[in-house]
Amino acid sequence: PEALDALMSSHIAEYPDFPEPGILFRDITPLLRDADALRTVIRHWASVVPADVEVIIGTEARGFVLGAPLAYELGVGFVPVRKAGKLPGTPRSRTYDLEYGTATIEIAEGALAPGVRTLVVDDLLATGGTAAATVALARELGADVLGAHFLIELSGLAGRERLGDLPVTALWSIDDEASPAS
Ligand code: PRP
Ligand code: MG
Repeated sequence: PEALDALMSSHIAEYPDFPEPGILFRDITPLLRDADALRTVIRHWASVVPADVEVIIGTEARGFVLGAPLAYELGVGFVPVRKAGKLPGTPRSRTYDLEYGTATIEIAEGALAPGVRTLVVDDLLATGGTAAATVALARELGADVLGAHFLIELSGLAGRERLGDLPVTALWSIDDEASPAS
């Protein structure tokens, strides 16, 4: 809705050339620190996810900050996908290309029951590398991934193509090509 668009555009800050030249960084901290805005976004988000989801999967770090309150609002569990080296035991790993550089993420063995209905959540869909790796980890454990949900989608980077047939939903879609801010 238009009200949500207005809320997002007024609560997401833009920093050109961070963390590298040519990258327009979107900072969600103005949204996080505004109690009403955060509550409005999480409540709206909870109203658009598949009703039968059982577990929210969030990817470190910003997927934790949004995924955990979303899971709480839905009354379902939360499973973290972490950056490499943080999980004990023998986690499953995936290495992928990020918008800038590469990264390795991991999920704990046994964190998801086979067949459990999950949703992958993150703040941003850019190239889709992070989300595709997260989905792959969830499926490796046998989870049923119902979809991927994002606060922001940079539609010009075609990240959703990296996710194949998976339903992809974004609360706010930005086309940088068409934006004077870029
Ligand atoms: C950022 C963002 C997404 C990812 C999107 O994470 O939070 O997770 O990049 O980019 P992609 O679609 O090209 O993969 P990053 O690891 O940079 O930082 P964070 O630890 O603050 O979440
Ligand atoms: Mg991230």
